[in-house]
Amino acid sequence: MTAQPTERHLQPVPPGDNNDRGGKAQPLLIVQNLQKYFPIRGGVLNRKVAEVKAVDDVSFSVMKGETLGIVGESGCGKSTLARLLMHLMPRDKGTLVFDGDPVDEPHGITLRELRRNMQMVFQDSYSSLNPRLPVVDSIAYGPTVHGVATSEAKIKARGLLEKVGLRPDLFGGRYPHELSGGQKQRVNIARALALDPRMLILDEAVSALDKSVEAQVLNLLGYLKRHLNLTYIFISHDLHVVQYISDRVLVMYLGQVVEIGPVDRIYNAPKHPYTRALLQSALEIDPEHRIETPPLVGDPPNPINPPSGCRFRTRCPYAEAICERETPKLGKAAENPAEHVAACHITNPVAGHSMAGRTLQSLPVEASAPRALAAAL
Ligand SMILES: Nc1ncnc2c1ncn2[C@@H]1O[C@H](COP(=O)(O)OP(=O)(O)OP(=O)(O)O)[C@@H](O)[C@H]1O
Ligand code: SF4
Ligand SMILES: [Mg+2]
Repeated sequence: MTAQPTERHLQPVPPGDNNDRGGKAQPLLIVQNLQKYFPIRGGVLNRKVAEVKAVDDVSFSVMKGETLGIVGESGCGKSTLARLLMHLMPRDKGTLVFDGDPVDEPHGITLRELRRNMQMVFQDSYSSLNPRLPVVDSIAYGPTVHGVATSEAKIKARGLLEKVGLRPDLFGGRYPHELSGGQKQRVNIARALALDPRMLILDEAVSALDKSVEAQVLNLLGYLKRHLNLTYIFISHDLHVVQYISDRVLVMYLGQVVEIGPVDRIYNAPKHPYTRALLQSALEIDPEHRIETPPLVGDPPNPINPPSGCRFRTRCPYAEAICERETPKLGKAAENPAEHVAACHITNPVAGHSMAGRTLQSLPVEASAPRALAAAL
């Protein structure tokens, strides 16, 4: 049985954090112009014939202690972005700055230091754990690799099991196949915490759990964040969960950031037509508010050859000639984390779009489905 962690297991965060070098105002992570194109090879010589533009010129910041939600349709590049942040794959371009220190640059922090500070929890809780190790050994593995004595690492692992609501005497000696999905994900969270990271990247970490277990794990994440001074990047398809857990939300479309801002502003007054359509696509439990026509029709375009100008223009009800010619800019999202910005010509009064300067809320919604469908065909 899974026990909920109680307050007595953890002390509240003491004022000030010894690891905090730049103060609260300095973002924990600054991402600038990150790019990853996957080569597609073919022909008898297996030459590069095309590229999947999975992450294309992505910039944003993550503030200390916040939860940044990342949403977007399947294939828009969320997991690739997460893996690039963790340096689990090489980036083509771009820079990362962790609490003021450039990552993997002269005079910056090393990849090893970054990975100690930043850990990731994946959706597939089973394959993330070594099936041949009892869970206490899986959790202790990271600290031992970083030079902690095995006995000390196991004591720490048992403490972490308790923090995630699993009694170490009952669960520590079990193997992954002897745990439920929710319990495995708790072990994965404990394992991610074993090196005392400052940031967790949670990539669909609760998506495979049933709703009651999902709620428990979300509560656990909130509890750990408060008590361990953590910062989260939370990636999910579930827009309701993202709204529940996030302080700010970043919306991706076809490898790019199209909107970023505080969660309430994104959900109540989105600025980008894609964000609005995405939010309107979320399933509504209230029968009075169910929608007949899906606001987002057609698949996203091929990321090998995305549309010119604005990548959303083939599905956007407000697309005009300027949208085909010029790529809308996101603005200075990396420098102004509190800002609510969107990469759409309508948000720029001098962009040359006929609706420029108007709010999205003042534009007709009903035009969207037929025009988007016509454009997509
Ligand atoms: N190793 C790879 N080689 C080639 N293309 C890849 C590779 N990994 C991802 N891609 C492509 O990059 C794009 C982004 O994939 P990614 O997994 O980041 O999307 P995602 O937003 O996480 O999707 P989902 O919501 O389904 O998890 C997709 O078009 C995918 O097919
Ligand atoms: S830039 Fe044009 S096509 Fe893109 S979202 Fe705005 S109005 Fe639509
Ligand atoms: Mg993914």
